[in-house]
Amino acid sequence: MTMDEKVGQLGCFADMHRPFAADVNPEIAHQSAQDVLDEVRAGRVGTLFNGVGAALGREAQRIAVQESRLGIPLLFAADVIHGMRTVFPIPLGEAASFEPDLAWRTARAAASEATAAGLHWTFAPAVDIARDQRWGRGAEGAGEDVLLGCVFGAARVRGFQGDDLRAEDSLLATPKHFAAYGGAAAGLDYSQVDISEQTLRDVHLPPFRACIEAGALTLMSAFNDINGVPASANRWLMTDLLRSEWGFEGLVIGDYTADMELIAHGYAEDERDATRLSFTAGLDISMQSGFYRDHLPALVADGEVAQEQLDASVRRLLELKERLGLFDNPYRSLDPQREADTAHRDAHEALARDAARRSIVLLKNDGGVLPLRKAGQKIALIGPMAEDRDNLEGCWVLFGDRERYVDLVSGVRAALEDPDLLTVRAGSGLEEALPGGIEAAVAAARDADVVVLALGEPQRYSGEAQSRVAITLPPAQQALADAVLATGTPIVVLLRHGRALALEGGVRDAQAVLACWFLGSQTGHATAEVLFGDYNPSARLPVSFPHHSGQQPYFYAHPRSGRPELPGVTEFKNRWRECGNDALYPFGHGLSYTTFEYGTPRLSATRMAWDGRLTVSVAVTNTGTVAGEEVVQLYIHDRVASRVRPVRELKAFRKVAIAAGETVEVSFELERSQLAFTGPDLCFEAEPGAFDLWLAPSSAAGERVRFELLGPGVE
Ligand code: IFM
Repeated sequence: MTMDEKVGQLGCFADMHRPFAADVNPEIAHQSAQDVLDEVRAGRVGTLFNGVGAALGREAQRIAVQESRLGIPLLFAADVIHGMRTVFPIPLGEAASFEPDLAWRTARAAASEATAAGLHWTFAPAVDIARDQRWGRGAEGAGEDVLLGCVFGAARVRGFQGDDLRAEDSLLATPKHFAAYGGAAAGLDYSQVDISEQTLRDVHLPPFRACIEAGALTLMSAFNDINGVPASANRWLMTDLLRSEWGFEGLVIGDYTADMELIAHGYAEDERDATRLSFTAGLDISMQSGFYRDHLPALVADGEVAQEQLDASVRRLLELKERLGLFDNPYRSLDPQREADTAHRDAHEALARDAARRSIVLLKNDGGVLPLRKAGQKIALIGPMAEDRDNLEGCWVLFGDRERYVDLVSGVRAALEDPDLLTVRAGSGLEEALPGGIEAAVAAARDADVVVLALGEPQRYSGEAQSRVAITLPPAQQALADAVLATGTPIVVLLRHGRALALEGGVRDAQAVLACWFLGSQTGHATAEVLFGDYNPSARLPVSFPHHSGQQPYFYAHPRSGRPELPGVTEFKNRWRECGNDALYPFGHGLSYTTFEYGTPRLSATRMAWDGRLTVSVAVTNTGTVAGEEVVQLYIHDRVASRVRPVRELKAFRKVAIAAGETVEVSFELERSQLAFTGPDLCFEAEPGAFDLWLAPSSAAGERVRFELLGPGVE
């Protein structure tokens, strides 16, 4: 390979030859398809991204294989985050299911549709831990908890990639954004991350490790700096930790122009310096800037970048192409017939519906207002989300088949036995008041037996570069909710959102509230199933809902304070003036149309040997009249340790179906590794001593029991 051919492989560029790439890259819309194809012909491109279509992809691949000197096939990548043509709930919503297997299934379906549309590689899953709900990209991950982040990330990697990377429906996964992107100060996207190495290792890095163990072969670097060193030029992160300590042999791609942004960070002097810093730190592939193509040859010639390092990065990319089978069959995933056959898959729509209903969290149901009746009840469906079709999917849906989306009103109407009893009013716009809107809504509410109030954040409020100062509903919608509450008609609020919200007034005080996230293609049908009790809600919160925006960052697993809040004591305590430290709805919370009662957790022993295990179990009884699913959550707390430990940490969970009146025994095995943390000396190990344990329905409930971890050699 010539030097130009080598550095060409290390470039990833927007696929202007196929639809979509220009739409999602407006700033480079001037680049023509012809420019891109000429570069491919010259062997100066390794990967094209965010274009789709098998036929046009075939043509670009033909040019790469037949007209470039070496005939190296292209990789085609895209952001397929939560579905391709069929859109599944945003990953944060899907995490609420507490069913990693569901994420595996939706990722598998997305892979099948994406590979049919001419893709080999997705820039997903996002596994950033998001503990500040002002940050808009929490919508793309599994929320605030480390364990959820690990198991959902790993499930998606397995789902995208399948069992055999060479299979035509296997999509290469890319856990992102390495690392600590979700730790942005004040939740402001692209801000600094000033963090202890212990928090980095114990909170932000484990999901990446879990994804690598699940078979991830690529990672994407993050935009943020970590303690002053941009992640995309962070040698400690990408080389010392990732390669030397973890033994990762795959490839790291930079986020979009992340190498270029080293200049804006004030970390690199110019393009050449930025190229040198990012490449030598361990960033194999440059996305969109063209810096590697333009500057690596001279850097190698001048001895500032080692030829061996360049060759190693090129080899990693070629190995990836080989593992995908592209050298044997460059046209894999580029079959227009398969694309046509896969365009509409009823099985995927059914999966989207199931995933959506499993993601809806019943936050509140005072007086059993839910489920609603399908007949004999006058329902006023009020709110800007009732008939909306532009805010069903959530962020990062580039290729969704919008024609097939089912909006809320259609789903509700289809479920009703007497649709004439349904009245629909917008009441307000998403952000703007509607002239006469509130009056019309109030009149409809007065005339109804029950109001279903469909509110939420516009979907562009979450996703990249979408940070909020207040995590509340837009004022126009809040005013609508307050006015409808004043009518006294019972209200069921349906929330659409990409983060935890701070609920106020008529929203907070409604009789029932459902957290519905952005549910995707089957929003209407899935929501109707929950509203009318065809599906008994089983989801739990993957993020804490605080009382106020000002509590952010807010997460249940916070370290213990030396002056903990004490009920009734107002001064010199770890408390806010305006509200308690508890969450309005804590992590792990979620109701059902039935009720569950927990027995006292039982331990196989009160002492756990250093290399031993404990069996912990609890009896859970369905004390209601309908079958339901309960998520049993195992939390621990290390009572005294060499670093201040979180008040609780989720260590295991299980969703169990329980028939009405039935009791099931739920057991977990606990071992020392689950008690470990990164200590002052940066060693990851458990410390002997007393631990609290809960088997509970949420992070703020349950009866505490205690056990002791014995030191090495202690019997
Ligand atoms: O994959 C994304 C990333 O998450 C954010 N910046 C753009 C990339 C490519 O579209």
